[in-house]
Amino acid sequence: MTHLYAVIGNPIAQSKSPLIHAAFAREMRHDISYERILAPLGKFRETVDEFRRRGARGINVTVPFKFEAFAYATDLTDRAKACGAVNTLRFGGEDGEEIFGDNTDGIGLTRDITENLGVPIAGARVLMLGAGGAAYGVAGALLDHQPSIFAIANRTHEKAAQLAAKYSGTNARAITLDNLPSQPFDIIINATSASLSDELPLVSPSNFATHSLAYDMMYGKGETAFLKLARHAGARTADGVGMLAEQAAEAFYVWRGVRVKTASVIAMLTQE
Ligand code: ATR
Repeated sequence: MTHLYAVIGNPIAQSKSPLIHAAFAREMRHDISYERILAPLGKFRETVDEFRRRGARGINVTVPFKFEAFAYATDLTDRAKACGAVNTLRFGGEDGEEIFGDNTDGIGLTRDITENLGVPIAGARVLMLGAGGAAYGVAGALLDHQPSIFAIANRTHEKAAQLAAKYSGTNARAITLDNLPSQPFDIIINATSASLSDELPLVSPSNFATHSLAYDMMYGKGETAFLKLARHAGARTADGVGMLAEQAAEAFYVWRGVRVKTASVIAMLTQE
């Protein structure tokens, strides 16, 4: 029997998740179908209810519904609780009435950085630009690796302070984006949405050293203004394709209980 999954968002046409999960299912010889679902704003709950009535086993959730998915779940993992957002729902129980919520974005990012790119986060000086939804999704996973510095820089200081306060007792610190220290960091992550409009968050070349990794969580935008600046400053650069593949692999594990390899999917997405 074919098991039914989907990704839900608004907009959704651009989502690569159906392609990725189809590749994973082929590799593992699992019989699944995976759809794209466009939910009208304010109709997340009704749309997922309808999908569950069709016997669905799970759903990936993307912008802007990750907070609604958090509220929809009846059971949450610690990492989903920590970031207050859910990107993966699994439906279980006799009639699919159990709704298990997880968030695989953070582990997707940290696996890409540490395993695929081979850059340790432990002991590294990390600068994260942005304090919106994307930053909330990954801060906890980055801190789990115990960087020596974890600076959260945001245009609006208050939001950086709120995010840092969630992780009080760690070395998370908030700084204002227009008041960045001129020191180099080992890992600089762009978690702002500035790359969507090809704008540049206010980093300076002095924030990069030649060994630094500049990571833009955005993908499919070519070389963003952030990555261009980093490359000119001599840093190594990466876009969010690896994170996309890794968060999907972790979701596949949550649903199917098997670990898939991501290298061929990353190669496929990079060639597109
Ligand atoms: P997302 O879910 O993509 O994180 P969001 O929650 O709207 O979207 O957050 C967008 C983030 O990008 C915020 O940190 C925002 O900064 P503000 O909190 O000051 O608005 C940041 N951002 C967006 N455009 C930016 C730009 N041009 N320069 C710097 N930061 C920018």
